[in-house]
Amino acid sequence: MEKVLVTGGAGFIGSNFVHLLRRERPEWHVVVLDKLTYAGRPENLAAVANDAQYRFVQGDICDAAAVADAMQGCTLVFNFAAESHVDRSLMGDPAHAGAFVQTDVYGVYVLLEEAKRQNVKKFVQVSTDEVYGDVSQGHSVETDPLEPRSPYSASKAGGELIARSYFVSHDMPVVITRGSNTFGPYQYPEKLLPLFVSNALDDQDLPLYGDGLQRRDWLFVEDHGRGILAAGERGRAGEAYNIGGGNEKTNREVTEFLLQVLGKPASLIKPVGDRPGHDRRYALNCEKAKSNLDWQPLRTFEEAMTATVEWYRDHQDWWRAIKGGEEYQQYYQRNYGTRDKG
Ligand code: NAD
Ligand code: TYD
Repeated sequence: MEKVLVTGGAGFIGSNFVHLLRRERPEWHVVVLDKLTYAGRPENLAAVANDAQYRFVQGDICDAAAVADAMQGCTLVFNFAAESHVDRSLMGDPAHAGAFVQTDVYGVYVLLEEAKRQNVKKFVQVSTDEVYGDVSQGHSVETDPLEPRSPYSASKAGGELIARSYFVSHDMPVVITRGSNTFGPYQYPEKLLPLFVSNALDDQDLPLYGDGLQRRDWLFVEDHGRGILAAGERGRAGEAYNIGGGNEKTNREVTEFLLQVLGKPASLIKPVGDRPGHDRRYALNCEKAKSNLDWQPLRTFEEAMTATVEWYRDHQDWWRAIKGGEEYQQYYQRNYGTRDKG
């Protein structure tokens, strides 16, 4: 029986992970620590809120007292908490990039310090394929150099390095996962998929950056969560594991796919000015996770993407509550209001 801390559990991947744990490890106790930033949505966890083996703590991973309270007695720690959106990390206001460095680097250090005191069995730092930077050819392996190129990916790489240093210096059981572009229910509608699906449902433009030929490896959220769980249960201390879907697609292909599922016209696609420093391609080699963690993605792109698009079509209350809010509208105006045509 484990007692598990899930930080960032009210966000997209974290909340799906909590639901996965309740289904697949029902005997485990789960504590969620979440600051509830704009991206943290308590409604994502409504289904477990009254569960006896579940506790929610609102708090910041940078706050040592809140972390000590939440981690008390925990055997496993999964750190999902992060500022996660590349476009927000690029906004002119220093407060934006600063929040990434604060949470994604300093917050990891605070968690590690408490995990050391608690003598946890495993600390899983949830990271991203973006730490490898732009991969023009081939597929990244775990020993490749980290060459992040945005304030988001640089902060995530910093968090990884701090985590790894606690393995090297303090012999802590740290494991790192590098997941690829994830899709599924409960994703904040600033990311490509929920933004485009929700815009399309309202016959609004889909702002495709640049030529739309940037390539990403798309991974269903449940497959990502199973990979993170496998890393927590079977990962070797000090190691990193790539977790990807094996579905390399251009942004234009993904956009055309979702429009086809919704029966909406391609004329909704509006090329707009590109993201500064936009990485053209990410691609992962996941052989290590497959052979050492006994993990592989179970869902096909077509089937999981269709189900996800349908989830947003059928759960409009969820995203309309976000899109109708002031914070979202200000963000949308700032990020898209002044973009030149692509
Ligand atoms: P998200 O933005 O949906 O959720 C982040 C959560 O962290 C929110 O609930 C937020 O309230 C919480 N949070 C933020 N700052 C916090 C702080 N200081 N203290 C406590 N809680 C805080 O993000 P997501 O897409 O679910 O990503 C989860 C993790 O997975 C992140 O670490 C991200 O880097 C990583 N990741 C994401 C993707 C992807 O495609 N979304 C891919 C690979 C890796
Ligand atoms: P995003 O969902 O923000 O994830 P990430 O930047 O972490 O990969 O973006 C996925 C891809 O879609 C990325 O290449 C940027 C592109 N994109 C657009 O073309 N338009 C948009 O409005 C957004 C949000 C993303």
